Amino acid sequence: MAKQVYEKFDAGQVTDDMLAEASLLFNDNYGIWGKDAAILGPFAKPGSRVRLSKDRLRGQYLPDGAACSYVRVTVDGHLAGNAFACRWLFNGKTVCWITQLVVKYDFRERGLASGLLNQLREDDDDIYGLISSHPAACMAAAKVFGNSINLVNLDFIRKYAEAVMKVSPIRYVKDAKLCGSLFDPGDTSGRISSVDTNFFVDHAEPMDALAWVRQEFDWPLGELLEGNEFVIILEVRRRSRSRSRSASRALSLSK
Ligand SMILES: CC(C)(COP(=O)(O)OP(=O)(O)OC[C@H]1O[C@@H](n2cnc3c(N)ncnc32)[C@H](O)[C@@H]1OP(=O)(O)O)[C@@H](O)C(=O)NCCC(=O)NCCS
Repeated sequence: MAKQVYEKFDAGQVTDDMLAEASLLFNDNYGIWGKDAAILGPFAKPGSRVRLSKDRLRGQYLPDGAACSYVRVTVDGHLAGNAFACRWLFNGKTVCWITQLVVKYDFRERGLASGLLNQLREDDDDIYGLISSHPAACMAAAKVFGNSINLVNLDFIRKYAEAVMKVSPIRYVKDAKLCGSLFDPGDTSGRISSVDTNFFVDHAEPMDALAWVRQEFDWPLGELLEGNEFVIILEVRRRSRSRSRSASRALSLSK
């Protein structure tokens, strides 16, 4: 049986060698540029792989001064998936935002993304967030940090997404433009909870996943448009031991 090992690191423990390996994983497994990507510049050639160097990984996902974490999973000693996260405070609550999540093609659909997210959980987290075009990433986040994708609290996202994201130390989260009927009742595009990130990654794989997920679940986040991604924000589901704390936090958030 294959040996899976999960490891978690604070930003300061992440070496250049680890990032070089993460960069290879990303370049080979994240995705390809979509047909409209050329407007971003010559680096985004439609059909070519989306790439990130180790320096960009550090700059974008482990910026100086921010409370970031990195988790990875190896299978029989080989890197099979990883995730970056960043924590910041919003109204005295700890936000933990998943800023990147990639699993190697050969190891997908066997729970590694969910396992990585599980490693990132901390007892003091109050809110989790993720921007992703891939429904599987949203499914994994909903399950690990909440209940299930069909039980996502859209009202919570509508109320807090903008304020939570605006204070993020991660540039693409801070700059993402919310869109969809959750934020603009006049939006008739079919989007419900999306962001316009101008990230024109090819949507063929996420769209296949979406069609498949919709056969099983009442998908709450709406349609996926080019250059857009889904946004999901979840309130922490606390275990009974801290029920009173959970109740008081929920009350203070709903004010
Ligand atoms: C998104 C990604 C990380 C998921 O990794 P994974 O290890 O296959 O995910 P898991 O096996 O933990 O599955 C998570 C959930 O998604 C579902 N799922 C996974 N792949 C799916 C697919 N292709 N279609 C439909 N559902 C899928 C799983 O069934 C699971 O749901 P469940 O818990 O209800 O059973 C992986 O597909 C990937 O690396 N994609 C490219 C990068 C990307 O888009 N990252 C997104 C965030 S930046």
